[in-house]
Amino acid sequence: MDASDLSLLPPDIAEASRSFEEQLAACNSLDALLRLKGTFTGREHSHAARLMEALKAAPKEQKKDLGALANQLKQAWEAGIKARQDGLEAARRRAAELAAKMDPDLPPPMPMRGALHPLQRLQDRLVDIFASLGFHVEEGPEIETEAHNFDGLNIPGDHPARGSSDTFYLEQHPELLLRTHTSPVQVRVLRRLAPELDARGGIRFVAPGRVYRKDDIDPTHSPMFHQVEGMLVGKGIGMHHLKGTLEYAMRALFGPDTRIRLRPSYFPFVEPGAELDVSCPLCAGKGCRVCKGSGWVELLGAGLIHPNVLRYAGIDPETWSGFAFGLGVERTAMMVSQTPDLRLFFENDQRFIRQMGGLD
Ligand code: DAH
Repeated sequence: MDASDLSLLPPDIAEASRSFEEQLAACNSLDALLRLKGTFTGREHSHAARLMEALKAAPKEQKKDLGALANQLKQAWEAGIKARQDGLEAARRRAAELAAKMDPDLPPPMPMRGALHPLQRLQDRLVDIFASLGFHVEEGPEIETEAHNFDGLNIPGDHPARGSSDTFYLEQHPELLLRTHTSPVQVRVLRRLAPELDARGGIRFVAPGRVYRKDDIDPTHSPMFHQVEGMLVGKGIGMHHLKGTLEYAMRALFGPDTRIRLRPSYFPFVEPGAELDVSCPLCAGKGCRVCKGSGWVELLGAGLIHPNVLRYAGIDPETWSGFAFGLGVERTAMMVSQTPDLRLFFENDQRFIRQMGGLD
């Protein structure tokens, strides 16, 4: 139908006819469509009814054309409304079918719940165990000075760990580095608390955190890993205190039948220095793949605080003594969970984390 046809119509009906398609498309419910139907093709007062009246009143010579046009328009409106009605009814049926299929007894979809990472949980457990012995928590920065990371710990200037092949130094600030262990927290805490030491009567703390070494990543190495450092300062502290404390902690961690042994070892910041083995938590010391048949697994480094470390912090080693230890969190987690590849802890594959009990 072209515009010249519409010019025969009363202007308001011509206008309504032009916007019919648009109004039809806007009808998103059967109710709206019924209202539109009434307006266009209803028995009374509709555009179609008024067209019939206009037709009757029209001069004779126009009746033929106007009659044809009126019929054409009415049919187009009826067909459009019918098609839209079919569409809306079909949509209503589909929705009703879907609703009938829904099982209201099923639980609603739940968002995934987050959980602490297995390494974090092990670290928290270690901290809790020492907290129960009165150790408080200390933290130090991951960017450290050479003085805290090495000098204050009696590590000599020519020690291989100080080399740029083992340690990440900051390019713009060569005196700064990414700490290679949590032991520099010892230096910070000792220096900070030295003036109050008499009043406090001693110091006990644990320091968990990230450490960095220039190692290529492989199943047992990572350039970033976690340690928990521990330290106690008091009067007349000896190896027996260290041994009793660590035995208590290892039994809390691995179970009451756990045994420990100390083997002599060397760390510049302790004298004597030792390595602590625990009876293999997987085979209870009988010998298995994890302990390589020996019944023991090596867990941490420890010893009595070297007098130079106390002196550096301004503490008199004639009056005060103490012990220190440092444990690798990943190493311990791998051993306990028999995880053969350290990288699994950092890849965040949820299947692995769930296996570790991390997402339950
Ligand atoms: N800092 C040592 C390391 O990273 C671990 C260590 C050994 C810490 C002996 C100590 C200690 O406090 O007494 O290998």
